[in-house]
Amino acid sequence: MSDLSRRSFLGGLAAVPAAGCAQLFADPDPAPATATRAGRRPVVIASGNGWWPEPGRASAVETAMKVIRDPARMAKRYGLLEAVVEGLAVQEDDPTDHSVGLGGLPNEDGVVQLDASVMYGPTHQAGAVGALENIQNPARVAMSVLRYTDHSFLVGKGAYDFARAMGLPHTELLTEEARQIWLYWRQKHSENDDWIAPPDDEVPQAIRDQVTWGTIHVSAVAPDGSIACGTTTSGLSWKIPGRLGDSPIVGAGMYCDNDVGTAGATGRGEESIVNCGAFSVVDNMRRGLEPQEACLELLKRLATNAKKRGLFKDGKPTFNISFYAARKDGAYGSACLVEGNEFAVIDGDSPTGRREKCGWVYDK
Ligand code: GLY
Repeated sequence: MSDLSRRSFLGGLAAVPAAGCAQLFADPDPAPATATRAGRRPVVIASGNGWWPEPGRASAVETAMKVIRDPARMAKRYGLLEAVVEGLAVQEDDPTDHSVGLGGLPNEDGVVQLDASVMYGPTHQAGAVGALENIQNPARVAMSVLRYTDHSFLVGKGAYDFARAMGLPHTELLTEEARQIWLYWRQKHSENDDWIAPPDDEVPQAIRDQVTWGTIHVSAVAPDGSIACGTTTSGLSWKIPGRLGDSPIVGAGMYCDNDVGTAGATGRGEESIVNCGAFSVVDNMRRGLEPQEACLELLKRLATNAKKRGLFKDGKPTFNISFYAARKDGAYGSACLVEGNEFAVIDGDSPTGRREKCGWVYDK
């Protein structure tokens, strides 16, 4: 996963060196890092925060794979989607992941609003929730929308009331650390308001750095080729209340087609939305592109469209975004716009997950 701060990860990429950029950015030449891998079914692929190298630390890809390797659990209805949702919950429940679930960074008013969507390939159903407050596991709510309603998308208070009706607890999601990060942002935000920031040496480095680890996406292909996926996030920090990113948008933040494959996104959601990101990656695989090529092709189009709106300053991207893809046969790949991100994967009978480097369009 990127080590970029949230502001650079989702907002303004500051790490791109100036030297040689004009030519580079005028004619991007995708540089594959990890090319598409054949993979062995079953496969679970995720954003980089889907696996951790620390021994014993729970991870999304291993949690999902544990369910997939349990025939009794997979025999249940929506067993594969349950695997994805349990994987996503690892980060939703982790207060140190400041862009997902508990501990997610809030909107500009200091309120945590969560977005999530899930999709189940065998029945081609989707469920989604947006701007959901006080419910720690929005992907679980999205799965309940899919399973227990005739709708596909609930937002705001309606989504909250539905989650409570489904038995999920009311939880204060703004942790003390996230509140301090938000407060520091609020105090430093403008010279033209009445907030005064404390001197930097009175503020812990971790609060000043505002380090976050990004939205999480999980895609899974079962031993029999069935497919499911999901994405969950607290979205862009300091967003205008009510803002939805790509994560809850079916076809943008995630999408799967049981005949083809699955894809998802993390990063600058607005760019995924206007390019139908995850749908386009799956569609590229349908047209015969390998998973990593499918991601790169979409990213190049996304970059071209962003330039039309002047979103690239001096030819450099002002944001980053990553896509993850797995094909029905177990092949998988990933790519990001600007070099530096990793993705998580576990496949076949591997005992542990691992991280691999995403391909990229623009050098760092
Ligand atoms: N990709 C997450 C968001 O933009 O909210």
